[in-house]
Amino acid sequence: MTESLQDIAQAMVAPGKGLLAADESSGTIKKRFDTIDVESTEGNRRDYREMLFRTSPEMSDHISGVILFDETIRQKAADGTPLTQIIRDAGAIPGIKVDLGAKDLPRSSGEKVTEGLDGLRDRLAEYYDLGARFAKWRAVIDIGREGNRSVPSPYCIKTNTHALARYAALCQEAGIVPIVEPEVLMDGDHDATRCYQVTQATLKSLYAELYEQRVALEGTILKPNMIVSGKLCPTQASPEEVAEKTLKCFAHTVPAAVPGIVFLSGGQSDMDATIHLNAINQLKNTSTAYPWALSFSYGRALQTAPLHAWRGTSANVPAGQKAFAHRARMNGLAATGSWSADIEKQNA
Ligand code: G3H
Repeated sequence: MTESLQDIAQAMVAPGKGLLAADESSGTIKKRFDTIDVESTEGNRRDYREMLFRTSPEMSDHISGVILFDETIRQKAADGTPLTQIIRDAGAIPGIKVDLGAKDLPRSSGEKVTEGLDGLRDRLAEYYDLGARFAKWRAVIDIGREGNRSVPSPYCIKTNTHALARYAALCQEAGIVPIVEPEVLMDGDHDATRCYQVTQATLKSLYAELYEQRVALEGTILKPNMIVSGKLCPTQASPEEVAEKTLKCFAHTVPAAVPGIVFLSGGQSDMDATIHLNAINQLKNTSTAYPWALSFSYGRALQTAPLHAWRGTSANVPAGQKAFAHRARMNGLAATGSWSADIEKQNA
C-alpha cells in the first residue's frame, strides 16, 4: 500500500504541476460568491466548479489534483458526467477535504483546534469509493498580536499536530495520501522572523507526531504557509527573504523522505503567491540541500481572477476559463522557477 501511496504523492507534485484547492466549505464559498453578488445555490456552485475543471488544456498541463468539498465529490455536471470524472479525464487526481473545521480550543485564549476525527475511518472508505485518492486536513495556528505574544501556546500546537497525525494514519490505512496542512496564519502584525519561529515549532511538533503515529512520510504531502510577514506588519519581507527563510525553515524541520511541499496562498495576492513560489524554486535550483518538490495548492490565488471574470453568467464561462488558465500556467512556471514578469504580461 505504501508504494502506491508514494506513486500518488509523486504524481501530485509532478514537475510544473500543482493542486487546485476547490474545497471551500458551504460557508466559505458563500463568502466568495457574495463578492460577485451571486447566490450560493447548489447549481451555481456546480456550474462554477465545472467551469474550472473543464479548462483545457491547462487543467491537464498544470493541475495534478483537485481538492473537493463533500458536496462536490458527489455532484454531476449539467450533462450528467460526475465532476470527479471530468477531473480524471483532464489527467488530474480527485482529492477531498475531510476535516470538519477549526473550533474553539477549550481553556485557551481564543485559539483553535480542528475537529473531524470521529467517524473518519468510515468517511475515508466512502470517499475512496467515490474516487478520492488524497485528502486534506487543515489546522490553524494563529500568531498573537502585540500584547498577546503568548499565542500560539504549545498546547494549541500539540493538540493540532496530534490530530493531523491521527488523520494521516487513518488516510494511509484507507489507501489515501494525506495532505497535512498546519497553516500558520498571516493575519497579524508579526514580522517574518516571528512567522519563522512559529512555523518551525509547528513543523517540529508535526513531524514528531507523524513519526510516533507510524505515518509513512513517502506517502504524505505537506501543505504549509510560506514564511512571510503578517499582513499588518509595517515591514514586509522581500521575495528573496521569503524564499531564503522558507527554505531554511524547511531544511531544519521537514524530513527528506517527504516527496513534496505544496503551499497554500493564505490571503496573499495572486501575484505575490506566484512571485514567492517562483523565488523559492529559483533558490531551490541553486542547491541540492532542498530535496522536496515545491509547488502550489492554491485556493484564492488561483480562483479570485476566474471568479470575478465569471460573475455567475454562462456567457462569461470562456472569460472565467481564460483567467483560470492564465493563473494555472503562471503558477506552473513558478513551480519550476521559470516564471518572469515579462512572461506574466505577454500571456495575460
Ligand atoms: O486550506 C486552505 C486552502 O486549501 C487553500 O486556500 O490558497 O486560499 O489559502 P488558500
